[in-house]
Amino acid sequence: MRGIILAGGRGTRLYPATLAVSKQLLPVFDKPMIYYPLSILMLAGIREILIITTPRDLPAFEALLGDGSAFGLSLSYAEQAEPSGLPEAFVIGERFLDGQGCALILGDNLFHGDQLGTRCREAAARSSGATVFAYQVTDPGRYGVVSFEPDGTVTSIEEKPAAPKTNWAVTGLYFCDPEVVSIAKGLEPSARGETEIVDVLNAYRARGDLTVSLLGRGNVWLDTGTHDSLYEASSFVRAIELRSGVKIACPEEIGLQLGYLDRATILNRATQMGVTDYGNYLRKMAV
Ligand code: G1P
Repeated sequence: MRGIILAGGRGTRLYPATLAVSKQLLPVFDKPMIYYPLSILMLAGIREILIITTPRDLPAFEALLGDGSAFGLSLSYAEQAEPSGLPEAFVIGERFLDGQGCALILGDNLFHGDQLGTRCREAAARSSGATVFAYQVTDPGRYGVVSFEPDGTVTSIEEKPAAPKTNWAVTGLYFCDPEVVSIAKGLEPSARGETEIVDVLNAYRARGDLTVSLLGRGNVWLDTGTHDSLYEASSFVRAIELRSGVKIACPEEIGLQLGYLDRATILNRATQMGVTDYGNYLRKMAV
């Protein structure tokens, strides 16, 4: 399975902060936002990752992440000229995917939780169908919303419904089999003029091949779409990191744990970071 991070869009809700910079490059406390979804794909065991972004922002992502070797990854880049819907990521990524399954994660989604890596690896190991994660929120109408029968069977998935049937939002992490490219190619734009990811999920549901996995207590899924939610995400990360001394979403650390990187590489990277908290963290890891 290969991974795609979709980091496009204009980030208009964060103007003026995003007038000249991609939203997904803004810091969430001590690191760029994209480190968080990148870390999730790494925890899922995925090493080949395509980053899709706007023509304006592509050079900045490349400057930040390079070819991925600093993390033990192979990264490539592609442009999405105009935001025309999340499913377009699968079409843009067709050649990169080369007939393999795909884990798509949205570049502004921040997940944290103990068993997340295991659950992502399980989802990535399924050879057919699609797996998504749902999380309880107080404002489900801002997201894709899933409803169920009492036995857990999914009855509907709706995009930003005016009257949400449940408070379970579909998070921005989608594990799909290779069929996803042809499903995405067959979609019609919705009333808002974009193709919708829920239509991809409903296509899998119609085939009886959609798994919705609930992220319960002990997991965190945070939004970063507004100034308030971005600030709250930063404070959350800061609180956990200061209390535990362990960083959330440090891709070098994950690369070391997974055996992709050796201590010498981490030490080089620490030197590049200078005398910063992040650099010191890497330095400690390298001894
Ligand atoms: C997108 C999806 C929505 C999903 C959300 C998760 O919405 O369309 O189904 O719940 O991401 O972040 P957007 O944030 O692009 O409006």
